[in-house]
Amino acid sequence: MKLFIDSANPEEVKKMAELGIIDGVTTNPSLATKAGIDYRKAVDQILATVDGNVSLEVLSTDAQGMMGEARNLSKLHNNVVVKLPTTPEGLKALKILKAEKIRVNMTLVFSANQALLVAKLGAYIVSPFAGRLDDIGASAIDVISEIRQIYDNFAFETQILFASVRSPLHVKQAALAGCDIATCPYEVLEKLVHHPLTDVGLKKFLSDFKESGQKPLV
Ligand code: G3P
Repeated sequence: MKLFIDSANPEEVKKMAELGIIDGVTTNPSLATKAGIDYRKAVDQILATVDGNVSLEVLSTDAQGMMGEARNLSKLHNNVVVKLPTTPEGLKALKILKAEKIRVNMTLVFSANQALLVAKLGAYIVSPFAGRLDDIGASAIDVISEIRQIYDNFAFETQILFASVRSPLHVKQAALAGCDIATCPYEVLEKLVHHPLTDVGLKKFLSDFKESGQKPLV
């Protein structure tokens, strides 16, 4: 399973890229606002940092506007994947952009049927928002497992991206459900990397060896 960082903050992207654990980036208008720096500069830095897919979202809500933005966004870099909302206008735009060979990530997906539609229209990625489903007491993992099964039943090639990750548990659920990608906030990636028992164990290994008075092997 690929791991993406869900962030428009180039510093966060750089730190995780240095660890070598991320395969791509997803952004959205809320994350661009949260990053608090010039969005265009942020995207340029992110594209220069990560050699993997970078999803950039359109701001138009009508199909014509979405397509215009998508064509321009896709020219920024070969790694750009255009994010469209899963609305009727988004579906219209998806069909045409697919014919133009522009890779599209259909976002704000909350049901297996929405996922079925976007796969039929040739989406490159589908982004079910797990955290927001769990937040309202729906079972995100059930929806995502249904999407996996539907895609396998019909050999749809659309990649399932587990989005709106809230915790390391979501990442494990994504992997167990056979998602192709999970996109995680910086804080969740940090929690994947660190384990308190690893830190305690390492400290003890080193203090035990120091106390023994032995010389290191090399
Ligand atoms: O990339 C979009 C998605 O991950 C949003 O997450 O936390 O705003 O529900 P969240």
